[in-house]
Order: sequence, then C-alpha cells, then structure tokens
Amino acid sequence: MALVDPSVPSPRAGAEMESASGRSHLGANAPPLIEMRGIERVYQMGDNVVRALAGVDLTIERGASIAIMGTSGSGKSTMMNILGCLDQPTKGSYFLDGRDVSRLSRAELAAVRGRMIGFVFQSFNLLSRTTAFENVEMPLLYQGLSASVRRKRANEALARVGLQNRGDHTPNQLSGGQQQRVAIARALVCEAPIIMADEPTGNLDTKTSYEVMAILQGLVAQGITVVLVTHEHDIAAYARRVVTLRDGLMVDDRTQTPVIAGGNMAADAAAATAAAGAHP
Ligand SMILES: Nc1ncnc2c1ncn2[C@@H]1O[C@H](COP(=O)(O)OP(=O)(O)OP(=O)(O)O)[C@@H](O)[C@H]1O
Ligand SMILES: [Mg+2]
Repeated sequence: MALVDPSVPSPRAGAEMESASGRSHLGANAPPLIEMRGIERVYQMGDNVVRALAGVDLTIERGASIAIMGTSGSGKSTMMNILGCLDQPTKGSYFLDGRDVSRLSRAELAAVRGRMIGFVFQSFNLLSRTTAFENVEMPLLYQGLSASVRRKRANEALARVGLQNRGDHTPNQLSGGQQQRVAIARALVCEAPIIMADEPTGNLDTKTSYEVMAILQGLVAQGITVVLVTHEHDIAAYARRVVTLRDGLMVDDRTQTPVIAGGNMAADAAAATAAAGAHP
C-alpha cells in the first residue's frame, strides 16, 4: 500500500541537516508543522476506484499530540502514510515544516522522512535475531556516524523509553510492551521532531498499552509532536486532540484534556532521559 518501505531508514541529506530538528522556523511567523489542504487519495483497482481520502484539511502545530480515529476503512492508514511521507496524495497540498512535500521525488521524500519523522507500527517491526541496541542503532548506520556516536545515541534512545538495561536482549527476550518501547527508541534515535504511530497499542494488553502511552506522553512533554492512529477511545483519551475520519472525510475535530498515563512510567522515562543527557 505504501510507496516506500518505512523499515528501510533513509539517509539524512547533509545539506538538510540544518533544519533537522524541525524547529528551524520557530520565529513569530513560523508556519504550522503540518498543513494539509484538500488532500485526496484515490486508488485505482482495475475498473474500481477507491477514494480513500476525499478532501481532508488538517493543520497540526508543533508539539501537538493528536489521535486519528475512525472505523476500519475510513482512511486512517492512508492519511498516516501521506502524513509520514510514505505515500503522496492524488490531489491537494501538504506542507511539512513549511515545505510543499506533495510533489517531491521518492528520493526527496525519503530525505524529508529521515529528517522529520520516526515511525512506530502495530507489529513493532523489529529484526528478530538482532538485539534491542542493534535495532535502535540501525537507522544511524546509514548516516556515516562513528561507532561511538552511534552507541551513545542508541543508548540514550533506549534510556528515554526506560530500557537502558535491556540493550542486549533480542525481541523474543522482551515483553510486547518492551518490544514496542524498543521500536519507539528506534523512532527517536534520529532525533526527528515527529513520531507517527499507527495502532501502536493494537497488539498489546490494556496495562501494557498504558505504559506505551505513558512513554508517548513523555515525548510530547519533551516537545515532540506525536500523531497516533487508534481504534480505541481509551487510547485516544491520552491525546490532546482527536480527529475522526469517516469515508475519507474528517467528520470531527476536538481538543480535550488528556488522561495522564501511568505517571510513574512517564516520570521514570523523563528521569532516564535527563540522566542520559539526551536531547529531545
Ligand atoms: N493500496 C491500496 N489499494 C487499493 N485500495 C486501498 C489501498 N489501501 C487502502 N485502500 C482502501 O482505502 C480505504 C481506506 O483504507 P485505510 O487502510 O486507510 O483504512 P483504515 O482506516 O486504516 O482501516 P483499518 O482501521 O482497518 O486499518 C479502504 O477502503 C481500503 O480498502
Ligand atoms: Mg489502518
């Protein structure tokens, strides 16, 4: 469905590193982090045309926490794929950090993705015979960094999700929640300003889901923008804003006071981050 395999990290183009934090336009006239206008995505399957997105306008500010909800087939993953620069709209414009990314080449899109967005998936997408540390380090292997810098960044990212003591475990030696935290650490390691998570708690039990939401809330508290797709209202409750799709259209957009997930976990992760000297 996606144009590009998101599990293959994209290189960060050196020239674009200047604005790698996504915080390069934080002046008074800073554009929104994300601005979509009239986004349509049409899939042509033989004679059958599916309008997965039928004209969506969406603006997301820096530091937002936003849940995208909707029934199966409403267009959530299609929306996430376009937001995450994994796919492009058939029609409409998408400005990411002030730059029109709706008509970029695949290589340009990959560079923007590598710089701006970390991904978390329902099925974790970890390499099974590879340690947590190596999974987290993986995106950095494409950046020409020294082994010691990679080690420091990967360890910091693991500390940010409270797994500083699990780096040498392989995925089958970790619980589901811990595996998802490794995936979050991998999403964080490039220091992208946006985390996009498609059903990140879909394979987790209730308690573990809350732990993962605590980690994501901790990231929002550190200034990272978190965009989350979920079916579940009690997961969406952790976001500050909830938009609902139906038949490819946005039918609801509300802000709320988020429920605070497992305070201790979030505090622990924040303390571990501080101890590791990591920068959001
Ligand atoms: N690659 C594709 N080719 C053709 N049709 C597609 C493709 N991807 C999605 N669709 C169709 O687009 C519509 C929206 O799909 P999408 O995957 O975005 O839904 P969703 O809201 O994520 O659903 P779910 O909750 O089941 O994951 C559906 O009707 C789906 O069948
Ligand atoms: Mg989906």
